[in-house]
Amino acid sequence: MSSPTERSLVLIKPDAVRRGLLGEILSRFEGKGLVIEALELRTMDGSLADAHYAEHVDKAFYPPLKDFMTSGPLAALILSGDSVIEVVRAMIGATDGRKAAAGTIRGDLALSNRENLVHASDSPESAERELALWFPKF
Ligand code: CMP
Repeated sequence: MSSPTERSLVLIKPDAVRRGLLGEILSRFEGKGLVIEALELRTMDGSLADAHYAEHVDKAFYPPLKDFMTSGPLAALILSGDSVIEVVRAMIGATDGRKAAAGTIRGDLALSNRENLVHASDSPESAERELALWFPKF
């Protein structure tokens, strides 16, 4: 019997790249059995940040978040696998690294609610929207 496969847009954020954690984070996803369908090192510009974080642009935390997300290269990935959206969200942990459970990427490696290493689509609808923004040819 085949498993349902879905896709998620994952960003390994500029703090992770700066801290040399790209390999460790990719290794966790690969170890889990997820498939990297696309992987690009890119620097987000302001307009992509506004589009990607459309639901947050009016929030007080958005200006420093935008500065952070455009501050250097990040790795943009398409990950695929059975229930990948839910599986990756569980692997990265709660938004605030100070509160994320041990064993999760943020719980083990982050101590901030802004510089929290990884973004991952939170629903099939956001995955579709985010994949179209980042990887229009896929
Ligand atoms: P992410 O999963 O990329 O989705 C929105 C991002 O906004 C989140 O990860 C954090 O980087 C950031 N964020 C969310 N809430 C806060 C907050 N209260 N203060 C600062 N940054 C936040």
